[in-house]
Amino acid sequence: MPEQTKPHVTVLGLGRMGAPIASAFLNAGYPTTVWNRTAAKADALVAQGAIRATTTTEAVAAGQLVIAPLLDHDAVRQALGPTASALQGRTLVNLANSTPDHARELAAWAAGHGADYLDGAMMALPETVATPEAFFLYSGSQRAFTTYRRELEVMAPAHYFGTDAGSAEVHDLALLGTGYAALTGFLHAAALLGSVGTTPEMFAPLAARWLHGMAGFLPELAREAGSAAYADGVSTVDLNRAGVDSLIQLSRASDIATDVHEPLKALLDRRSADGHGRDSFSSVFELLRSRGTAER
Ligand SMILES: NC(=O)c1ccc[n+]([C@@H]2O[C@H](COP(=O)([O-])OP(=O)(O)OC[C@H]3O[C@@H](n4cnc5c(N)ncnc54)[C@H](OP(=O)(O)O)[C@@H]3O)[C@@H](O)[C@H]2O)c1
Repeated sequence: MPEQTKPHVTVLGLGRMGAPIASAFLNAGYPTTVWNRTAAKADALVAQGAIRATTTTEAVAAGQLVIAPLLDHDAVRQALGPTASALQGRTLVNLANSTPDHARELAAWAAGHGADYLDGAMMALPETVATPEAFFLYSGSQRAFTTYRRELEVMAPAHYFGTDAGSAEVHDLALLGTGYAALTGFLHAAALLGSVGTTPEMFAPLAARWLHGMAGFLPELAREAGSAAYADGVSTVDLNRAGVDSLIQLSRASDIATDVHEPLKALLDRRSADGHGRDSFSSVFELLRSRGTAER
């Protein structure tokens, strides 16, 4: 796209994430208007070439693409509430951490004021914005994603999850859940290793190497769970039941909490009791995807 046809971008919210996002658009040569509740946070960006807006309505009116990396849903509502009359024909990208229902509510509100809406989740740290390490998730208006994909990719590689505005937030929470399980496992292991004199710092590189290998196992796990094909898995329910049981026994003997692995042991026990001990480990998916069955 020739320089002069770059759309005007507005960034609402110049916190830890918003400031590097606005800076990335300036570095990429986009005319960029910025607004922040605490006005002084815009100073460095104005020095970099940004246009300062003094109200959110002025900011929204200036941008064809309005990006809002604000704190949360309430902040977005408060900042955007007065701008309804300026939203017509704009594309609004809400990057605040939110719930799927809040995302859907905002999508309906934006549509009611003539704006296209994309909900986004930032899988990034402030220092990884505009680097290949970051990736952002989007859902909502297909037209908005297609029209502005180039601009979205100024911030981070962009992934689109369909027209349901809540879908990006569900994917965000799914990724968080995956990470929480792994990181809590690491913290438990670090506590356990204290008993043999290994510090968390010493353990971290070993754990990182192991997790890297585990990541390579995900496609196989996904294939089994996706097709309910549990008969020929490399690692059975009973084998892993014994492994998790050993971990719990060692934790007890070392006076370390067993809270992290007791729920997994319960799932494996139930699978085994139901006659599925020789199925693949991935078959616990059958209990997880049916809450009624898992909580019986
Ligand atoms: N930081 C991270 O590592 C990270 C990573 C991924 C995703 N996120 C998500 O990104 C979003 C922004 O996070 P952040 O780290 O940039 O937060 P932050 O540094 O605390 O910045 C929050 C921004 O929201 C504004 N704000 C808060 N309440 C407001 C209100 N009622 N009205 C108008 N503006 C308001 C703040 O304005 P003031 O400057 O006036 O306070 C500031 O611009 C959050 O949803 C967060 O969960 C953060």
